[in-house]
Amino acid sequence: MKLIPLPQALTVSNKDFLTKPYIINNIIAEKVAGPEGYRLDIGSQGVVITAETPRGLFYAKQTLTQLEEEYAEQLPFVSITDFPRYAYRGFMLDCSRHFFPIDIIKKQLDIMATLKLNTFHWHLTDDQGWRIQLDGFPRLTEIGSKRAQTAGDGKKVEGFYTKDEISDIVAYCADRFIEVIPEIDLPGHFKAALAAYPQFSCNQLEITVGEGFGISPDILCAGKEESYEFCYSILDEVAELFPGRYFHLGGDEALKLYWLDCPDCQKRIADCGLKNEEELQGYFMSKMVAHLNEKGKTVINWNDGMLGGNIKGDIIVQYWKENKIGREVAIKEAKNGRKVIISPFFSYYLDYPYGMTPLKKTYNYEADGAITDQVIGLEAPLWTEHIEDAEKLWQQIYPRLVALAERAWSNKKDYQSFLTRLDNFNNILNRYNILYCNNPNPYLLPGKLATLKFFIKALSRVEKGNLNAMKKTKEKLKNKYNK
Ligand code: ACM
Ligand code: ZN
Repeated sequence: MKLIPLPQALTVSNKDFLTKPYIINNIIAEKVAGPEGYRLDIGSQGVVITAETPRGLFYAKQTLTQLEEEYAEQLPFVSITDFPRYAYRGFMLDCSRHFFPIDIIKKQLDIMATLKLNTFHWHLTDDQGWRIQLDGFPRLTEIGSKRAQTAGDGKKVEGFYTKDEISDIVAYCADRFIEVIPEIDLPGHFKAALAAYPQFSCNQLEITVGEGFGISPDILCAGKEESYEFCYSILDEVAELFPGRYFHLGGDEALKLYWLDCPDCQKRIADCGLKNEEELQGYFMSKMVAHLNEKGKTVINWNDGMLGGNIKGDIIVQYWKENKIGREVAIKEAKNGRKVIISPFFSYYLDYPYGMTPLKKTYNYEADGAITDQVIGLEAPLWTEHIEDAEKLWQQIYPRLVALAERAWSNKKDYQSFLTRLDNFNNILNRYNILYCNNPNPYLLPGKLATLKFFIKALSRVEKGNLNAMKKTKEKLKNKYNK
């Protein structure tokens, strides 16, 4: 019996079979297998699904579909008791670097539901494109959703989601028990917004939407009061569109080159008794967190956005950066009681080649023992700097997301048997016309060569200005803080 994700408990009788057509009985009862769990009994009485919630019934149906996939007309008598390992089982799609139409997103959501994934993290804004329509600031999409080219290729990239489209996706997700988390990345990765409204940057210079990649110094000014008001208004409008509990505010890779010289930022640091620019980010983020907490939202931040150590309020850490500092931040926040979402760069980042991140590595990842008690779940992000179309998108996502889904749902870990279950799931992907990667564990040498090729191309698409800004920031910080 092959099932993706693997259920927690299973008894099978291979002697007896139930033949179609059969009756399906749905029962809501108390104390079955938790809020997302279910029991699925297939016997002479037909199919009986018991769960505490409609969500549990929904997951049981996904399992039933997988059994039908495997056994076609005759289902074995089976009893399955099932519930997830983690409450948070996610996938992130970056729709800024490249824009993906609604029908592609819906297809992905359909497949996520079959994998019992319950969180769609929607990265809607970044340097290279602002993708959500807001009434209060029309230039965000008029200007911010368009870029003339990418690293000199002469090809326009544009697009944004209207409010109706956003609501359509939210409803589509609700039907599949998936929560949508919008991400408005602050204060860095904000260049598209500043191309539209340069008055909220430190130097207030006119800039274009990002046409190359890397870490940009064009970030929001955290000194001026107007910046705070601008962000509150954006968050108000976005929050109205997304009814979920969570709101992602990014916080990653905010390069503070201009903050170091900005009179407004420096005045804010002095007036508020802050130690440095990292604390200014923490101060700014705390204001945003308080604003969203008041609306009942829990905020999420990437771990490198929490270096200041002074963010207040209800906030969750997303652990992507695995270097020493990133790890220390995650451990410290976890020790202080904050919850953690696991998205390690070297194992879960789906945009990297299989030579660097083979399927086996994604499947076998183990969270750092120092934070495991605080982990609420796993999420695989897909950044799309180098993903221009759906074909490439599916190649990068599948089959690695299937591995994450199984590890997020099941307490058992067995890579070899996972491969047999994956065979079964590939039939489902075929039905969706998904061309998944069929060599997800390449041999060492071809894998390394493909990875090298990827990085050479990726590096050629980094904006030179961003590289210089990183260097300059390092020097300035060294001069100012002597470290
Ligand atoms: C990130 O990869 N910048 C979160
Ligand atoms: Zn400033």
